[in-house]
Amino acid sequence: MLSIGASGSTERHRQKLLRGRMPVHVGIIMDGNGRWAQERGRPRVEGHRSGSRALREIIKECISLGIDYLSAFAFSTENWTRPRGEVEALMALMVEFAAGEAADLAAHGVKVIPIGEVSSLPLRTREELERLSEFTRDGDSLTFFLAVNYGGRSEIHRAARELARRAVQGKVSPEDIDEECFRAHLYTHPHPDPDLIIRTGGEWRLSNFLLYQASYAEFVSTPVLWPDFSAGDLHRALRIYQNRERRFGQVKKRDSHGGTDA
Ligand code: IPE
Ligand code: IPE
Ligand code: MG
Repeated sequence: MLSIGASGSTERHRQKLLRGRMPVHVGIIMDGNGRWAQERGRPRVEGHRSGSRALREIIKECISLGIDYLSAFAFSTENWTRPRGEVEALMALMVEFAAGEAADLAAHGVKVIPIGEVSSLPLRTREELERLSEFTRDGDSLTFFLAVNYGGRSEIHRAARELARRAVQGKVSPEDIDEECFRAHLYTHPHPDPDLIIRTGGEWRLSNFLLYQASYAEFVSTPVLWPDFSAGDLHRALRIYQNRERRFGQVKKRDSHGGTDA
């Protein structure tokens, strides 16, 4: 259940955070489920199950913080290379999440947009994700990109293929293919890029997540394994974000003396 409520100290942290600059879009690479289970001598799939619970909590926290967009990496195009049993368990969990959470997500104004090659997922998973997306389509508190069978490279290839097709049909001229035109063929169009990408599980890499959109995202890596990632961990990542200076290629503010402020 996505009940929204807050205990004293979490609420104090939240209020403090809200006084700073908040990201519009947070992306999360939810890594470490397997290690979480292994540490407990349990099968990896139990880590994925607990990871799914952590995701529900983080969605709830994002709503509470007023974050407009959340994207979560649930299954990559490379994850098909895992043992068949694990892949099947992940697909089944996806079905369970989509079917079990639809009503609550809709009730809390979450709009779920699956991103990735959903059409090549097993039928049941695809159907449930499509149903979830349809059921939550009017949500206006949080837009949630659920990345399943998602790969940043394949998203870019897909956009290139579509543009090539349109060029052959004479609908677009090669000279007109600029950033705006290219972006229109990405899954996340017309929504904003992530401002912050959090990776759990301690690695410092994107693993093919939102390659195009993450160009100027701030990156925060935490050793916390995804099933243990809590509202407090999210607050910590947000504080790190709030202390970063985003420059977008411009002159750093504190180095700009002597120059103009134009
Ligand atoms: C992330 O956890 C979930 C998926 C990639 C599907 P992992 O399963 O990668 O967990 P670790 O990294 O092996 O601990
Ligand atoms: C990234 O985790 C993909 C997801 C979280 C779904 P991986 O565990 O697949 O990434 P690598 O293999 O460590 O790069
Ligand atoms: Mg991993």
